[in-house]
Amino acid sequence: MSQTVLVTGSSGKIGRAVVAELQRRGHEVRGFDRVPSGGLSSTQIGDLTDRPALDRALAGVGCLVHLAATPDDEDFLTQLLPNNVVGLYHVLEAARAAGVCRIVLASSGQVNWWQQIGGDIPVFEHQPVSPRGWYAATKMFLEAAGRGFSEQYGISVIAARLGWCPRPGQEEEIRATEWAHDVYLSPNDAGRFFACCVEAPESVRFLIVNGTSKPVRETRLDVTVARTVLGYEPAEQWPQGM
Ligand SMILES: NC(=O)c1ccc[n+]([C@@H]2O[C@H](COP(=O)([O-])OP(=O)(O)OC[C@H]3O[C@@H](n4cnc5c(N)ncnc54)[C@H](O)[C@@H]3O)[C@@H](O)[C@H]2O)c1
Repeated sequence: MSQTVLVTGSSGKIGRAVVAELQRRGHEVRGFDRVPSGGLSSTQIGDLTDRPALDRALAGVGCLVHLAATPDDEDFLTQLLPNNVVGLYHVLEAARAAGVCRIVLASSGQVNWWQQIGGDIPVFEHQPVSPRGWYAATKMFLEAAGRGFSEQYGISVIAARLGWCPRPGQEEEIRATEWAHDVYLSPNDAGRFFACCVEAPESVRFLIVNGTSKPVRETRLDVTVARTVLGYEPAEQWPQGM
């Protein structure tokens, strides 16, 4: 069934892929970003800390896909705190006030970093976390806030622990990092993965789920939950879709 979906971070690497796939599947897609998003007739340009802008963007929205964030380790006080912590607070509260039924949150495989680096793989969603640093810690906050929202307000929340979908400028780094090819997430698979989150059965109340493309050598982030609960099947493998 087609839904009205707001994608925050719609101008970003993953956001553009998610918008395209949701549109292809017939959903009514709106964007929210602090920079303009191409290919969308309905976009709100604004910052995550601008609550009135979020309220306007969320009016009439059934599902929120929240991607906007500082997407890796950066200065905590000036980047991670406003974008990933304060911004998350405003987005969640605005979504609750707007009566959004499902919230899909972009978490990260970095919450299980030290297991992966130490070779304690594959990593499953139910295992204790080992965050890499402050960025990963903000994603733990995001998962925890999402869990609370689902329990307290009955909103369906899916927290997606994503593999690596390289942004412009990261091509050489991922090429040179052999293990990362096993957690590669192609833009096409990212689009399909988030579409599966949006379209997941109503019975999904709170879910933490890993999302990657097909591993090249060995499985680092297990995607059985994505397969069985969301119906997501990775279609690509490093370096397809780069
Ligand atoms: N790309 C990856 O490998 C990867 C892996 C794990 C998790 N993630 C998560 O996925 C999400 C998307 O990542 P991406 O790689 O597409 O990043 P990106 O930098 O390409 O896109 C992020 C977008 O969010 C917007 N944004 C950031 N702060 C904002 C704010 N305060 N207000 C409004 N807009 C803001 C940016 O303008 C940008 O367009 C992030 O939450 C990131 O943490 C990404």
